[in-house]
Amino acid sequence: APSDPGLVERARAAKAKLGERVFVLGHHYQRDEVIEFADVTGDSFKLARDAAARPDAEYIVFCGVHFMAESADILTSARQKVVLPDLAAGCSMADMATAEQVAECWDVLTEAGVADVTVPVSYMNSSADIKAFTGRHGGTICTSSNARRALEWAFGTQNGREGGGKVLFLPDQHLGRNTAVRELGMSLEDCVVYNPHKPDGGLTAQQLRDAKMILWRGHCSVHGRFSLDSVRDVRERIPDVNVLVHPECKHEVVEAADHVGSTEHIIKTLEAAPSGSKWAIGTELNLVRRLAARYSPDKEVVFLDRTVCFCSTMNRIDLPHLVWALESLVNGDVVNRIEVDAETEKFAKLALERMLALP
Ligand code: 13P
Ligand code: SF4
Repeated sequence: APSDPGLVERARAAKAKLGERVFVLGHHYQRDEVIEFADVTGDSFKLARDAAARPDAEYIVFCGVHFMAESADILTSARQKVVLPDLAAGCSMADMATAEQVAECWDVLTEAGVADVTVPVSYMNSSADIKAFTGRHGGTICTSSNARRALEWAFGTQNGREGGGKVLFLPDQHLGRNTAVRELGMSLEDCVVYNPHKPDGGLTAQQLRDAKMILWRGHCSVHGRFSLDSVRDVRERIPDVNVLVHPECKHEVVEAADHVGSTEHIIKTLEAAPSGSKWAIGTELNLVRRLAARYSPDKEVVFLDRTVCFCSTMNRIDLPHLVWALESLVNGDVVNRIEVDAETEKFAKLALERMLALP
């Protein structure tokens, strides 16, 4: 539905009043009505870098989810204030790994005698606490666009140090498995899944010793819903269709697809695709709809599965919330500020900076 013209006007006016003092970031999964007011759009890696590159902006309004706003706070200076227009915009995947559960897991690894040779690699989609755990134990953060480089670094093939031998990958088992198997040539048997709801993660000490990748049992509730049937059905419906999916999808879905990549990669692939080509995209619906509209009728872009829906937490950020946040800032009221405490920030930053320094 078209945005309320009154709200559009108010958002414009508030942004104009704030001028250079505010910088608005928008993740690719945000609604059109929000993307319209973003100074930059990007995947979570690009947005982390873009936030860090704006030291003059007093306010960073993050249109995305909680872990992204936390990362922006960690990477910006202490006087900059990061605002998340709706505090209920969390991420179900990030919530699947709590600090207590991860500390317990580390005890299990220690008990099995493998903690010393394990490097944690945590997906950006995790809380600041998990990032701090990662930094404290010599690990790095990764996003879907640099997961391969992060794993290569962790296994020691690129940083010239003794390889850790093992990676504890948090919290998305699918990104971890897909990257290890597809990009690093590991086998499925090299991966085990640590279930935080079972004693010892549901694994024996021997299994932990034999594994190369210890995958946390987390997943994205949106991408996890694409299935092998989604791929089969779309191939039947649209002959010659190219199936392009995000690496948060299940391994079998990724294997059945033609191409895999982060949101930024998906956008670039479609941009470079020839006229007349047909694409079925397995990622969040706001982005797929925007791409379909952008390329229609030159290239046909469809959503991979008609029953999968929006990311409900990404969609929490809407124009009314954005207007409220901007107008509050105009009035000097910093609402919904996201502030990571100093101790957590110190170690989380270490892990994030390792990611930013990856080759
Ligand atoms: P990116 O491609 O930006 O890493 O996005 C994946 C995602 O699910 C963000 O929540
Ligand atoms: Fe989290 Fe998935 Fe939504 Fe991204 S799309 S914010 S990973 S639930």
